[in-house]
Amino acid sequence: MKRRTIGGLTVMACVFALLACPRPPHLGDGLPVAAVPVGFESEYQLFAARCSKCHALSRALGAAPKDDEYWKVYVTRMRRQPQSGISPEDEPPILRFLHAYSVRRDPVEAGAEAGAP
Ligand code: HEC
Repeated sequence: MKRRTIGGLTVMACVFALLACPRPPHLGDGLPVAAVPVGFESEYQLFAARCSKCHALSRALGAAPKDDEYWKVYVTRMRRQPQSGISPEDEPPILRFLHAYSVRRDPVEAGAEAGAP
């Protein structure tokens, strides 16, 4: 009982420390703040919280740019993992972030390939 409380407090303290930090350079092992698509900060937070439970976020984000169909299949598949902690209501915001992230990344990479002399 006591251990539980202390564990809970530690988690709270970590969350608070993260929120209180004026300019966190990174959010967990996820994106640098500057790389989070503008306007999708809260969606990113949800993605970071839900999708870092079993593997590093980079496992999802490090992959080559994916389309919406891929993300839909994957987010559902991840949600159905036992103990995923992902609810059906979490899917739309997570998918919004992944969409914004994918479309934002595509032109940059395409431009880098096409534009380099
Ligand atoms: C309950 C644990 C769990 C959670 C939560 C979870 N994943 Fe996973 N994820 C796994 C496991 C296990 C694998 C490897 C097996 C597989 O591909 O199904 C995996 C693999 C992946 C892959 C494939 C990467 C590769 O190596 O090809 C992607 C992409 C991914 N996860 C994205 C996500 C996203 C996005 C979320 C949040 C919506 C998420 N995961 C949440 C357990 C989880």
